[in-house]
Amino acid sequence: MTTTNTPTSLPLPPGSFGLPLIGETIPFLNDPNFTEKRYKKYGSLFKTHIFGRPTLIVTGAEGNRFLFSNDHKYFSNNWPYSTRILLGPASLSVQKGTEHQNRRKLLSQAFQPRALASYAITMEQITHQYLDRWEKLATFAWYPELRNYTLDIACKLLVGVDCASQTQLGEWYKIWVNGLFTLPINLPWTNFGKALRCRKLLLAEIEKIVHQRQETGNSYQDVLELLLQAEDEEGKRLSLNELKDQLLTLLFAGHETLTSALASLCLLLVQNPEVLATARSEQQQLGIDTPLTSENLKQMTYLDQVLKEVMRLIPPVGGGFREVIQSCEFNGFRIPQGWSVLYQVGKTHTDQSVYNHPEVFDPERFSPQRAEDKPKPFSYIPFGGGVRECLGKEFAKLEMKLFAALLLRHYQWELLPEQNLEMTMVPTPHPQDGLKVSFKRFL
Ligand code: HEM
Repeated sequence: MTTTNTPTSLPLPPGSFGLPLIGETIPFLNDPNFTEKRYKKYGSLFKTHIFGRPTLIVTGAEGNRFLFSNDHKYFSNNWPYSTRILLGPASLSVQKGTEHQNRRKLLSQAFQPRALASYAITMEQITHQYLDRWEKLATFAWYPELRNYTLDIACKLLVGVDCASQTQLGEWYKIWVNGLFTLPINLPWTNFGKALRCRKLLLAEIEKIVHQRQETGNSYQDVLELLLQAEDEEGKRLSLNELKDQLLTLLFAGHETLTSALASLCLLLVQNPEVLATARSEQQQLGIDTPLTSENLKQMTYLDQVLKEVMRLIPPVGGGFREVIQSCEFNGFRIPQGWSVLYQVGKTHTDQSVYNHPEVFDPERFSPQRAEDKPKPFSYIPFGGGVRECLGKEFAKLEMKLFAALLLRHYQWELLPEQNLEMTMVPTPHPQDGLKVSFKRFL
């Protein structure tokens, strides 16, 4: 299906480049049905011109398989300039080829099952603190609360900082994130300029934490601790500069995504009371006072289906960009070197040839009997795929499951009236008015 000796006689994929210079960037950014319209006209693979480059848009299992199986060979990652600068040159998301593969192997040491089991204790403690807080608040906008909650967990488990959302570190982090997807104009008042300054402050803070650890010699159960010990195949450890970039990347990659997934879970459960009742009854059958051990979590199979369905219907990450580093062929079309490629998760997850009534929230579609995604690998890709599949996938699933289990066991919530529940997509999908709820403990 793919080849490197791509005959130039092969046609380019169907589609339109739009206007000179700006191409189709404006409709791409403003029209929520951009992909849908072109999908109907051209099929699952089409060309367009966005952000100054000819771009191939890929949707569906077959295209995803082609892309994910050829990362590093025909494709390379391709973040916008502002993102690359703010993440830093030694970030896993910026590294390419063999350097990326080696670093990924090293970083994955902090996400092994044993490490995850130790993180679970902290996750559970912080979850209890927030559930107590929400009970006292009684009514609040959940999305900003969830952002603080996931930031607190991320900072505690990455670098050992407590209650980060209430600290200077949390403030700097928020300003830094605001610059990640903006025009890279470095002036004191631009988002990018402010973010660059906060990057420096964040790196200095992380450096301070590393030095303190080295001086005191105390041991911690967090990612930093494991990365300070981790060695690559040649027995080398991460340099201080790389360690700082990698920690910042993990903070970014893990925080906004999880916030969105949890907000969507809370929204979809309250909108689908039968699903909520079934998920709650699973908790009751397993025993609401049973400790949340990994064995116990494994038994929550209906909850697994619910979480899977949440990320199918509202994927926290809409897609990913790549760059074609070597011309290739796909399905009889020429894919020229230098083009961008964008894979789209949302459109893949609503493919009618895979999912029965894809617009419906139906966790049963992932039951062992139905398993709708199984016949077509790469038709379910909330965590991407291939060599760049999410490194924090198991960490994310664990945090979501612990949160959901504790919520279902003891709490109920209702949507407050007169709020806009339409989704806004930046930084990750969430209801426009921040998901306003009333919240109480029932058991
Ligand atoms: C990459 C989704 C949570 C760390 C990715 C990618 C996706 C994704 C789609 C691939 C991007 C691409 O193809 O270019 C998610 C979702 C999450 C989540 C939906 C939560 C529900 C996390 C967490 C961490 C994390 C908690 C770490 C603590 C990373 C890293 C990468 C990545 C480091 C880059 C991997 C590489 O380039 O090799 N994530 N993620 N993610 N994710 Fe996640």
